[in-house]
Amino acid sequence: MTQEEASLEARLEEQEQFEPPESFVEQANVSDPGIYDEFEEHWPECWERAADLLSWDTPYETVLEDGDAPFYEWFTGGELNASYNCLDRHVEGGAEDRTAITWEGEPGETRTYTYGELLDEVEAFAATLRDLGVEADDVVTLYMPMIPELPIAMLACARIGAPHSVVFAGFSADALATRMNAADSEYLVTCDGYYRRGDALDHISKANEGLEGVDHEVSDVVVVDRLDDALEHSLASNQHDYAELVDEHEGASVEPVTRDAEDMLFLMYTSGTTGQPKGVKHTTGGYLAYTAWTSQAVLDVKPEDTYWCAADIGWITGHSYIVYGPLALGTTTVMYEGTPDYPEKDRLWEIVETNEVDIFYTAPTAIRAFMKWGKEYPEGHDLSSLRLLGTVGEPINPRAWKWYYQHIGDEECPIVDTWWQTETGGMMITTLPGVNTMKPGSAGPPLPGIDARVVDANGEEVDAGQAGYVTVDRPWPGMLRTLYQNDERFLAEYWQEYSDEDADEWVYFPEDGAKIDDDGYITILGRVDDVINVSGHRLGTMEIESAVVGVEGVAEAAVVGGDHEVKGEAVYVYAIPEDGYDAGDELEERAIQGVVDSIGPIAKPEEVVFTPELPKTRSGKIMRRLLEDIASGNELGNTSTLRNPDVVDDIAEQVEDD
Ligand code: WTA
Repeated sequence: MTQEEASLEARLEEQEQFEPPESFVEQANVSDPGIYDEFEEHWPECWERAADLLSWDTPYETVLEDGDAPFYEWFTGGELNASYNCLDRHVEGGAEDRTAITWEGEPGETRTYTYGELLDEVEAFAATLRDLGVEADDVVTLYMPMIPELPIAMLACARIGAPHSVVFAGFSADALATRMNAADSEYLVTCDGYYRRGDALDHISKANEGLEGVDHEVSDVVVVDRLDDALEHSLASNQHDYAELVDEHEGASVEPVTRDAEDMLFLMYTSGTTGQPKGVKHTTGGYLAYTAWTSQAVLDVKPEDTYWCAADIGWITGHSYIVYGPLALGTTTVMYEGTPDYPEKDRLWEIVETNEVDIFYTAPTAIRAFMKWGKEYPEGHDLSSLRLLGTVGEPINPRAWKWYYQHIGDEECPIVDTWWQTETGGMMITTLPGVNTMKPGSAGPPLPGIDARVVDANGEEVDAGQAGYVTVDRPWPGMLRTLYQNDERFLAEYWQEYSDEDADEWVYFPEDGAKIDDDGYITILGRVDDVINVSGHRLGTMEIESAVVGVEGVAEAAVVGGDHEVKGEAVYVYAIPEDGYDAGDELEERAIQGVVDSIGPIAKPEEVVFTPELPKTRSGKIMRRLLEDIASGNELGNTSTLRNPDVVDDIAEQVEDD
């Protein structure tokens, strides 16, 4: 297929439309199209609908407090506890024996926790944390893979009012240290290791190495023994075995601490434009109400469902849609430890079949991998339990959408393509599966009550079909409240671009490009800042660059994202070797290892291209766009504005040769 044919096909496919099946609409939590107008007419009181999904210790007085915008406050005066809302109230309501978490380990063992059992273990661990000295508002860092003790620890923290900061287990020791330092966190919960493609991975060594980089005293470390004898490890004097502590506290009763709606529930560090990760702060009332509401309206979650979000809890998707949203609604949430292709490429479909999963939510990168592996893997399993499919994390191309629709959903499940961010706390732009027509490739209209628009550089709304930037003109309950201890950066990163401060008009800028069609459907085009999206994982190019220039023998580097068939985007490094160093395989290896050590294997560069110079504008700025085009194999535009146009051809030739 030529490029023109491919783009024509993509356009045609994009125009295709799908209606939600009648059988789905009939049972959907939300099926009345009037919901959009209802939210509009009653804004901001419409958000009471979300707050009403929760049990409040003290009712809130005001839905939205905007006196100090953009430091908005939601459900002010209200008090509640997130762990009570995710556990106790379901147990009290008679759902003690319903499964809360069903977990599958990579080697094949399973564990289930009923709501009653989960509450018991959360209380035992909450009592443990208290005994260790954790008090309300102390940040507890959780550096754990997909094992049940991770959500248990999150809920235990929430129970005693200690915000958690989860660090993705695939992140490096350095990344752990950076995050513990930034949050002044004195407590760590981690584990000995976990399974990946049949191997027992050592995690504790990485955690220990990270601890060495923490600049303050770490009081206590709790270590879950996931691997039994598969990995020998010893514990330092301030390190404790999780099971021993929980045994000691078995049967403990820990009253959920009443928290103000605006008290911090957790911190989540995410990548931004500068090298320093941003500590996104989410609060108890607004976040929990918003994740519960979107789980109900968009994911159509019902208490009797088995719901599976195949993400990692170390990212926001897992926080909002494996843990808080689904558990707040009292449903059964599935957790899987391992990779989709182990032991075979049908592992996920086997899990869907044996657990009779109703709702399945994953990332486009996974769908592209399934497509590549072939339809025979899902075909070998009975997937008829599925009712709804979802995607998140990056744009989904129409072809992958249709494959998902046909081969996983059997053309009977609506698909929700949900656009949102760590900062938004929950979904923002997506169809409502029981209401809207679906258009593959386009996320859909903004959710009811969400004022997302596509604007040009001046903030004017663009015409249908034109590309522009996403903005959100009104606040929403799940929004971040600030960047941890850095209000200034919060204002600069998200509000400066489009707000009119003098008029007290605040516009949130998510830093995504998009276009909008005549029906108000928004198609996300990707980040417009220095963030790249590798397999749905958000990585900062600046963080990667500083890792590369930290390698001995590298003088300067530029990092960009280039198109990748499965990952969506992949990391490409262009580097200038230092005088006296050979631009060969050895230096490339070390540069790659430098990135893995400093961030983690997810950031591993696809390729390191050595060049004597980087393409720069006359004012000395690196032309990243050009490097992106080279990495993606796109045609190169005009290079005459460069100070050193020749270098572009040299680099492009090298990339083609490889
Ligand atoms: C991208 C993940 C297109 C987007 C929940 C956003 C998407 C970034 C979609 C946030 C989608 C997320 N279609 N792009 N459905 N969902 N993105 O913070 O660029 O890890 O800004 O949150 O992912 O990534 P984050």
